[in-house]
Amino acid sequence: MIRRSLIVGCGAYLPERIVTNEELVTRVDTSDEWIRERTGITQRHIAADDQKTSDLAVMAGRDALSRAGISAEQLDLLIVATATPDNTFPSTATKVQAQLGMTGGAAFDIQAVCSGFIFALATADNFIRSGTVKTALVIGAETFSRILDWNDRNTCVLFGDGAGAVVLKAADMPNSTAELGVLSTHLHSDGRYHDLLYVDGGPSSGQTVGHLRMEGKEVFRHAVVNLAKVVDEALTANNLTPKDIQWLVPHQANRRILEGTARKLNFPLDQVVVTVDRHANTSAASVPLALAEAVHDGRIKQGDLVLLEAMGGGFTWGSALVRM
Ligand code: UT7
Repeated sequence: MIRRSLIVGCGAYLPERIVTNEELVTRVDTSDEWIRERTGITQRHIAADDQKTSDLAVMAGRDALSRAGISAEQLDLLIVATATPDNTFPSTATKVQAQLGMTGGAAFDIQAVCSGFIFALATADNFIRSGTVKTALVIGAETFSRILDWNDRNTCVLFGDGAGAVVLKAADMPNSTAELGVLSTHLHSDGRYHDLLYVDGGPSSGQTVGHLRMEGKEVFRHAVVNLAKVVDEALTANNLTPKDIQWLVPHQANRRILEGTARKLNFPLDQVVVTVDRHANTSAASVPLALAEAVHDGRIKQGDLVLLEAMGGGFTWGSALVRM
């Protein structure tokens, strides 16, 4: 027998307020045409003033739990991937734990910026494979609107707020049928690229929250290379070719990055889940939001082989291959 993590429910939450490109034109020197052409983004959701990252996470978490038919008391692990926690401490995950009514187990945050959900999923999967956890809730939740410099047109048009979640459940299966659930995860980081994408503040760096700073062109260049590499790595590790994959669920930073990665892999664009047009870049929330959308609208079906991938500040990047 072998133990695997099955995804038994997906959840999503997007704040009500939608900010269109046209609205941004009134704030910074930009245009709808530039944003659409260079990024594919047409709008983004922005959290209300009284909505914190934990509030978004709770909504997505509740959605995933109810679709999985699992109560919060049954959870023994809760991980929130976020780069925009409510407070410096305690973790956003412990706040979410309390709001969900999860009384046992452990809750903690993971910080890998836009790759955060993949890092959190890999962590939860390893806890399940090792036998220490049976049921886990993994959430990616962000309020990037709070760390944007709304006077910097290079960055403020690119991001949005939101949260996505999955419930993982341990399943013991004979080796012969072990091709179900999370099949592999691969994580990478290279801290030498810190200066290309970072926030210029934090508790130990000037005691201000700070603003997101990015060398967009350089990040773009690394993203296409690293994402193609990490997809290749996942396929090779599982003796697969792109033809075996039904759906690619990439981090949603820029439509041109999604297209570039698909082209490099010779992967058909109509099998790539795209939400960047409506959500913009929601950092750690983007992959679980895209996964939830495609599962809930029926595109991703039980038995489909789905490849999740992301890249973000650090740099960090990684993949997860899942048989749904
Ligand atoms: O989530 C993790 C990581 N993040 C990413 O993966 C983002 C990666 N990078 C990108 O998506 C793209 O590099 C951007 C969308 C950020 C920028 O696109 P680009 O094609 O690389 O444009 P650029 O930075 O080379 O800028 C081209 C021009 C510049 O003007 P000049 O210097 O050529 O006169 C910019 O000042 O576009 C200008 N520009 C804008 N113009 C109108 C930059 N931002 C804007 C804007 N509106 N919002």
